[in-house]
Amino acid sequence: MFSFRSIRKLLIPLISVFVIGFIYQYNFPIYLISSNFLNYYQQNGKQSSSYQLSQDAKGELFPSASSDLTMNRINRSIPLIFIGGMPRSGTTLLRVILDAHPDIRCGEETRVIPRLLGIRGQWMKSPYESRRLIEAGITSEVLDSAISAFILEIVGKHGPPAKRLCNKDPFTLRSAVYLKKLFPNSKFIFMIRDGRAVVHSIITRKVTISGFDLNDFRQCMKKWNDAMQSMDSQCNSLGPVNCLPVHYEKMVLEPELWLKKILSFLDVPWNESVLNHEKLINQPGGISLSKLERSTDQVIKPINVEALSKWVGHLPEDVVRDMSSIAPMLSVLGYDPKGNPPNYGKPDEFVVEKMKHLKENRKQWEEKENELKKVRKSIQNDLIKQKESMKIVSKENLDNEVDQTIGYQLTKEQT
Ligand code: A3P
Repeated sequence: MFSFRSIRKLLIPLISVFVIGFIYQYNFPIYLISSNFLNYYQQNGKQSSSYQLSQDAKGELFPSASSDLTMNRINRSIPLIFIGGMPRSGTTLLRVILDAHPDIRCGEETRVIPRLLGIRGQWMKSPYESRRLIEAGITSEVLDSAISAFILEIVGKHGPPAKRLCNKDPFTLRSAVYLKKLFPNSKFIFMIRDGRAVVHSIITRKVTISGFDLNDFRQCMKKWNDAMQSMDSQCNSLGPVNCLPVHYEKMVLEPELWLKKILSFLDVPWNESVLNHEKLINQPGGISLSKLERSTDQVIKPINVEALSKWVGHLPEDVVRDMSSIAPMLSVLGYDPKGNPPNYGKPDEFVVEKMKHLKENRKQWEEKENELKKVRKSIQNDLIKQKESMKIVSKENLDNEVDQTIGYQLTKEQT
């Protein structure tokens, strides 16, 4: 009836499907590094020409360089690094500093990770929605495995591989406890900055954040307070072994001391390159920056203390008067709500030298900064023109939309 040939023709695809299905079932979550990604890495890679998974001394897996492997795995046990905090707290500065380390790659803000975490938060908080998910067979295990696979894909593939992968999306810290559950070996750095400086920066630089009214300093201080309370509580729940609070002011005043603490907390060996991140900006295998992130034009500069007290004398009087009650988190985090200006401490010798260099070359740095601002503006204008040509939205909506591409959008649960 059936010839040997026709049986073979039928069996080969069947066996192939079975084998692929088997591999998929028992190795999830995995991701395959596409040849495109390898090509990208060969041209721009941090360390070398290809990518595989190696084991460190403790037996932990990490992506590393090799010659000709094309299929790799990164799983939930890798020691990811998450940097978070309120935007304008020096989060980008810390991520570029860590990017200067040969073992670490953070990269630009992904934006999609905090949004996904926010949406999940919404589902979990809604009894109806979570019941619907259960009814559909989407148990918390299924959801966790899907979300962790998504995060690994984004973190792993949006930049070159490195021994330690890191993510900097400020608001991920609101979900630190959940992220720790997904990635048990991950570590968290909570960037903290004086709320008055943060809000002054948000308002003067017009950084849109859902829920923050940029015309109301008092409201923004309250929002800062709420966000910090939530992140502080997440960090405290994880404990000092897993979450390290870092004050921006301390880090910029004494970078060597603080970067040593940070690297030791991350179990990463000390490397001098973290003290001179500016030399690696946009260099091959160096630090990659987004043209649309607000902090790009500041982080190109050497570490400096220029932004520390810019806010002093620019706050509404009634807000200064009521500061302790508007933002009790200031005192909790070690700031004096009555300090005007506060005493943040003195810069060390290294920073004094960096500041001297910055002053002597002020014009060049300003030119670089303005060039980046121009590029950002021109991208924004292009986006506006594109949308206008579609004639589908009003001018006001359009400006808002473009502002949002620069700022931070949160789900209702996160605001
Ligand atoms: P200002 O807006 O007050 O200047 P984030 O990246 O978390 O949004 O933080 C932005 C803040 O980090 C900015 O505050 C900026 O000045 C500060 N910053 C960026 N690069 C810096 C550098 N090289 N040295 C010191 N501070 C820096």
